[in-house]
Amino acid sequence: MKFGHFDDKNKEYVIETPCTPSPWINYLGQDHFFSLISNTAGGYSFDTDAKMRRLTRYRYNEVPADMDGRHFYVKEGSLIWSPSYLPVKTPLDSYFCRHGLGYTIISGEKNGLAAEMTFFVPHGESCEIQKIHLTNKSKAKKAFSFFAMEEWCLWNASDDGENFQRNLSTGEVECYNGIIYHKTEFRERRNHYAFYYVNHKTSHFESDRDAFLGMHNGFDHPAQVIEGNLKDGVASGWHPIAAHQIDLELEAGESKDLIFILGYCEIAKGEAKFVAPSVINKRPAEELIEKFNTTEKVDAALAALKKKMYAFLDVYKAETGNEKLDRMANIWNPYQSIITYCMSRSASYYESGIGRGMGFRDSCQDLLGFVHMIPEKARQRIIDIASIQKEDGSTYHQYQPLTKKGNADIGGGFNDDPLWLIGATAAYIKETGDYTILDHPTPFDNKLGSEKPLMEHLRRSVNFTINHKGPHGLPLIGRADWNDCLNLNCFSETPGESFQTTENKGDGKVAESVFIAGMFVKYSQEYAEICTHIGLNDEAKAILKEKKKIEEATIKYGWDGEYFLRAYDARGNKVGSHENKEGQIYIEPQGFCVMAGIGHELGYGKKALKSAEEKLGCKYGLEILAPCYHEYHVELGEISSYPPGYKENGAVFNHNNPWVVIAHCVEGESKEAFDLYTRNAPAFIEDESEIHYTEPYVYSQMIAGHEAKNYGQAKNSWLSGSATWSLVALQEYLLGIRPDFDGLLVDPHLPEEFKHLHITRVYRGNTYDINIDNTAKNPSLYIDGKKVDGRRIPYVKGMGKVSVELK
Ligand code: GLC
Ligand code: GLC
Repeated sequence: MKFGHFDDKNKEYVIETPCTPSPWINYLGQDHFFSLISNTAGGYSFDTDAKMRRLTRYRYNEVPADMDGRHFYVKEGSLIWSPSYLPVKTPLDSYFCRHGLGYTIISGEKNGLAAEMTFFVPHGESCEIQKIHLTNKSKAKKAFSFFAMEEWCLWNASDDGENFQRNLSTGEVECYNGIIYHKTEFRERRNHYAFYYVNHKTSHFESDRDAFLGMHNGFDHPAQVIEGNLKDGVASGWHPIAAHQIDLELEAGESKDLIFILGYCEIAKGEAKFVAPSVINKRPAEELIEKFNTTEKVDAALAALKKKMYAFLDVYKAETGNEKLDRMANIWNPYQSIITYCMSRSASYYESGIGRGMGFRDSCQDLLGFVHMIPEKARQRIIDIASIQKEDGSTYHQYQPLTKKGNADIGGGFNDDPLWLIGATAAYIKETGDYTILDHPTPFDNKLGSEKPLMEHLRRSVNFTINHKGPHGLPLIGRADWNDCLNLNCFSETPGESFQTTENKGDGKVAESVFIAGMFVKYSQEYAEICTHIGLNDEAKAILKEKKKIEEATIKYGWDGEYFLRAYDARGNKVGSHENKEGQIYIEPQGFCVMAGIGHELGYGKKALKSAEEKLGCKYGLEILAPCYHEYHVELGEISSYPPGYKENGAVFNHNNPWVVIAHCVEGESKEAFDLYTRNAPAFIEDESEIHYTEPYVYSQMIAGHEAKNYGQAKNSWLSGSATWSLVALQEYLLGIRPDFDGLLVDPHLPEEFKHLHITRVYRGNTYDINIDNTAKNPSLYIDGKKVDGRRIPYVKGMGKVSVELK
């Protein structure tokens, strides 16, 4: 069953009911100020860091769910309703929610009064705009009150939810001129405050939550709204909020706009924080308000935002004749990749914004999905990530976006991490041709004075694997590799202990990862190519020798007969082998080792992919492993802690299915590649939204596997490497337009039912207009009418528009 539909023309998903299976959200902001917004206007806002600078409060785990966020109430006589349905839940006469690229429009109508509410964060600004367009659609004049309420978070979201000893006494506001300023902790060490403004005369306000609600009421039933008048209360401690009351009259057919601004301001260094005792300096707030206090200014800002977002998408546009494929390639998958770039894994409806910072491996992989759209940001991101690498080539696993320092609580020891840096840097260079990034002085562990050219970081990455091999000559796994839950050195028996960070047992010199071997073979090749390009021919040769060694070790010790093994555990036993009772095969090495071409001449690639389909295949793609573990295995760790079919214990991980799609393309298996792609691509499974549960326009991290009770149900939507890798699989392998060091490759892998593909790709300043005859057997490549050998369009600067045909 569906709950909405795609509107490709407007690049929107239109939700037709507030009662979706779960809150279906969107993101506002792409720079430093961000908001999460659900289809019922739930969510929260923060500036730069979802933990340290949270503006509004959101309670995860709350019942009823998703009641926190933007609260709007219309009171007409005794009728009270919310245009976004929540929090009041009065049934609406009509409702829709349009999630677009960086903006959301929610519209509700009741009793002849319509409220269309547009939410967005203007590009580069520190505020969320809420434009409420009210229309009296009835035949008679209407008099009503409009209430808008935001609940402040006391800045540090973690402290806000646990340190009540302190924080119930710290809340402070200033209510001045119809604007409510949230200034908790401003009197001491903070140089920032927030405000909630409306461009209309307010009749009353309230800033004390408990006064607003009244004893024992929830947000659906605030006493002051029911009574019809806010009480102009100024909060002191407890729970400060910002609520405005606007009394309005609309003639039949008349419309009116209200513009609300939820803003964040900093006082510049050296500027006075206070203009009088306890009176904050409102200059930055006034300047921000001045920019957006009219409908005209807001409409212009929204138009500018759309233009900016559409420009990202102009980099790659495909017409395939299949509308579902087009909307994934052109709209939703690139959009999700941009959001994943912005958020890493910090704030979603599944990531609380207080847990994780930016992941090393996550961010490196995310980069593959946005580098072509925002190359300038990709460069900085690579430097930031590399700066948390340690001198020995190992890395911190995460960093905090505010400080950019390696997160000491999590530490390091995830032995796949260093290699992802090579993948990310190679992707950046292939896209931009900018080798100067390799010279960029980049510190180790952010220590001043430790700077070395980025190239030295890559060298230490590649050498880290070379210097950390186990008894079979395969890479040691450390705490874990890509699969955070395969903890072969952890042996945890204490409840609640983190599998990722607990002290590992033993010396870690036995457990090996065949997955990292696949990564090494793929990324050492890219490293060697970079070396060759900058004249380090001897180093390239030396690295290729190391590559060969690991390739040979994988063929000898990493092959199980019909597919690749997953690992050797700390006792030297096989993991992911037919010899095991459970967990006989894992998806990761099948994807990565085949992508890397290991054992290609021996026919291993095709065999591994066939086994993967046979043993892991289900309706929604390939499960991560099979059969699931049914009991806890201390020697395997967290993977066996999940009930069968969930998460790393047998769900379909959308992150590594695209590896297998790519692997099929590498093996020339177009039909299989496309078939697997469609089994979990959001647009292709929209009809199953009821079962799927999460948003039908973006990937979720995982879909419960067939052994799970809730087979087919997805979790952890939005922030997942699934976005990036699916986009790479689609744009670069299925559609086949792939940047390389010296040009663009044209190498499509779609089944025969696709007759003709038309793709435009902006690449290093040129625009390539590419027509592909997908029915041609052994087609040739023509550039501006001239036939060339092979499948590469050699890059020539300044060509402008280039016509390319594969026919
Ligand atoms: C989560 C993590 C990612 C990890 C994956 C598999 O998505 O963000 O780093 O690779 O789980 O465990
Ligand atoms: C848990 C999750 C895994 C995630 C890890 C780190 O182990 O199962 O997906 O990567 O936590 O947060």
